[in-house]
This record gives sequence, structure tokens and C-alpha cells, in this order.
Amino acid sequence: MFRINENYLKLPGSYLFAEIKSRVAKYAAGHPGRELLRLGIGDATRPLAPAVVDAMKLAAGEMGEAATFRGYAPDYGYDFLREKIAEHDYRRRGVAMQPDDIFVSDGAKSDSGNIGDILSADNVVAICDPVYPVYADTNAMAGRAGDYGADGRWDRIVYMPCVPENNFVPELPDRAPDVIYLCYPNNPTGAAAGRGDLERWVGYALERGALILYDSAYEAYVTEPGVPRSIYEIEGAKGCAIEFRSFSKTAGFTGTRCAYTVVPKELVCGAGGGVGAAVAGGAGGASGAMGAGGSVAAGVSLNALWGRRQATKLNGVSYVVQRAAEAVYSEEGRKGCRAAVEYYMENASIILAGLKKAGFSAWGGVNAPYIWLKAPDGLSSWELFDLLLDRAGVIGTPGSGFGPHGEGFFRLTAFSSREDTQKAVERIAAAGLL
Ligand code: MLT
Repeated sequence: MFRINENYLKLPGSYLFAEIKSRVAKYAAGHPGRELLRLGIGDATRPLAPAVVDAMKLAAGEMGEAATFRGYAPDYGYDFLREKIAEHDYRRRGVAMQPDDIFVSDGAKSDSGNIGDILSADNVVAICDPVYPVYADTNAMAGRAGDYGADGRWDRIVYMPCVPENNFVPELPDRAPDVIYLCYPNNPTGAAAGRGDLERWVGYALERGALILYDSAYEAYVTEPGVPRSIYEIEGAKGCAIEFRSFSKTAGFTGTRCAYTVVPKELVCGAGGGVGAAVAGGAGGASGAMGAGGSVAAGVSLNALWGRRQATKLNGVSYVVQRAAEAVYSEEGRKGCRAAVEYYMENASIILAGLKKAGFSAWGGVNAPYIWLKAPDGLSSWELFDLLLDRAGVIGTPGSGFGPHGEGFFRLTAFSSREDTQKAVERIAAAGLL
């Protein structure tokens, strides 16, 4: 008799955004004609830049001609795109990067979930609290999270509270984790981590042989000078960190699907199974030298392991989409994407200023397209969700969906239209919540 992966049975409820979708559908069915303003899921609403669309059309034309038709894409992405990423996103910003450190994929959500395939189920994982729910859920699916308690916590996960008092950047945990997820600019709190914060984390990871999984899907939203956009701006990070990047939020590819993950060749499994002690090759071969700790894993290249995983489970990203992603780096493409990011950040300022003026405590919205607000009067996150939906027709995301320390908070996104954003702020202010 077959057996299922029983870890799935431990997962509480549905995936956060699926839960919201179903609650909103139920509400809408009961309130036909009610105008709902969607500031819940962070989904792009601005159209693709014209240069990106032109590149897609051209590539689609090539696919229709025998002479230029392409079959399977290379497993790790076309060289033309990997080269552009290395040059524009790293080298031009002072970070040395080679195209073969970069793996093109369909999304940072899938990569940040799939990365667990190359990590032992025994690893102790640390996550920020609140956090993008994919990190906890995918570790739970892999059996790395233990059991889910009545307190809303997995008993094998180390939770690192991110609260106003620490500017939503966690302290180093007492219980030493093997794998640490960090996301800055942050989803959901909209906070940014400074250089000093990241230096502290990189130092900690190197000292303890831990691996940092750094999600920088929102780097394009940084507006303050000096705020790092990549973990690799920090010395030593290539020896302890993997970085996830996406075209979803930087270029409006939420529906087009293209992202990449950086696994530097310098990143190897260290003595005793930790990270960062030896030298290994790239994705050409997964074997490494036996390290000082005698572990078979010591010296193994994570670049090679991830390459092996991707080559086996992914058939690449379509040629048309990779040409579209390449066009993001053209002069016209950069201008178009920048304009969309600025549009969203103007929305973010409107939300932040409007909430503060109405008397709410609110954070974020300066280096990230998310605004994090405190629910008034001791309301729970879901109570505020229901009240805003009912009184204002505004859909947001309950903070508790991102973790126990998100309880009593609420997230609004800047990804809506200008008109809906302005209307939402006015309606929230008039909802009689304060
Ligand atoms: C969010 O709203 O947190 C994001 O859109 C979800 C995602 O990027 O998958």
C-alpha cells in the first residue's frame, strides 16, 4: 500500500494567500456589486515595459521559424541572460559574479522552497517571525519543522522575532541554527536591513558553519542610500549564503515567471557538515574532497548540488521568457521597470502617510512595497481583516498569517492602482477604527 508524505498532514489550514482568496470569494458572493480594493497579495498590476514586450514578440517570432526555433532551454538558463544578470545586478554594483554562479528558474517562491532538496532533513532552521510563509511551510513538508503546536509554532524551527523594538531585524538566536532564512527588504514588514546588520549575520554564519538563505526579491525597491541590495555586498558572504532574486517584483513578471538563484562556487559544505571550509568546483560535478571533519559532505559544492537538482527536476525556463528577462537590462527596459517601481513606491508613500495621518502606527513603505500596521484597540489580525473588508471593502493580509509575532499586525501592499490605493487609504481612515 502506498503511503503519503504525512508531513503535509501537519500543515495548519491552507496556504495564507489561498485562505485569503477563499474568504474574499465568500464575502464577494454575499455582497454582489460591492467594490473591493485589493491590497492583499503583492501581485504586480503595472503592464510589462514596452521593451520587454517587444523582446517577447521577437522571440515568439523566432520560435515560429525553423531556422531560429529552440527546443529545451539550457538547464541553468541561457548564457545571454546569466551574463546580463552577473554584469548588471552584481558587477556594476561592485560585486564580482560569474554567470555560472547563477541559476535561472521560474520563480523565487519555488527556488526558496526547493532549496531544501539539497539540505539534510536534520538541519535546524531559523526563520524571522513574521516571515514569508513559504519558508516554514516548505520545511514542514520536508519534515524539518517538527510538530505544529497550539501556540502557532513548529517545535524544531527557531523563531527570530521581528518587532518594532528591533526595527524588524532579528537578534542573533541563542539556539544555533544550521540554516537561516533572511529576507531584506522585508516581506511582510517592509523593513530594510543595514550593512551592519548583514555583517553581523554573515559573521555569525561563517563562525558557526551555518547557511544563510537570503531572499532579496524586493531589492529594486530600496530608496535609501547605503541599504544593501545583495548579501554579497558583505565580505565573506559568498562562503555562507545563497541569494534568491526575482523578476516578479522588479519587472512585473508575476504572471510571466522568471527568477534566479545565486549559489556561488565558493560556497561549500564545511568540515563536520557546516558551510564554507573547502574549495570545490562548479555545477560540473557534485563530488567534493573529504574535509577535515571526515564527513563525506565536507567540501561538497552547493553550486554543484543545486545544479544537479535543477538539471534533474527542471527543464529550464522558456526562451521567450528569458529573452523578455534579458530586455529588462536594456536601456529602455531599465527605464520602464524603474517607472513601475517608482509608481508602486509612490503608492507606498500615500499609504504610509495616510495611515499615519489617520492615527495608525505603521512601518515600511520606504525601501519596500509593503506597509505593516498595528491593529488598533487590541484587535487580532483576522478581526481587522474582517472589519476592513466589511467596513471599507479593503483587502489586506493579516499579520498573524506570517507568524506568531505578526499577530495584532496587518500588511497592505503598494501594488494596487493609484486610484484604488488612494480610495483604500481614505476608506480605512473613515472606517471608524481609531
Ligand atoms: C506576497 O504577497 O507576500 C507575495 O506576493 C507572495 C509571493 O511573492 O509569492
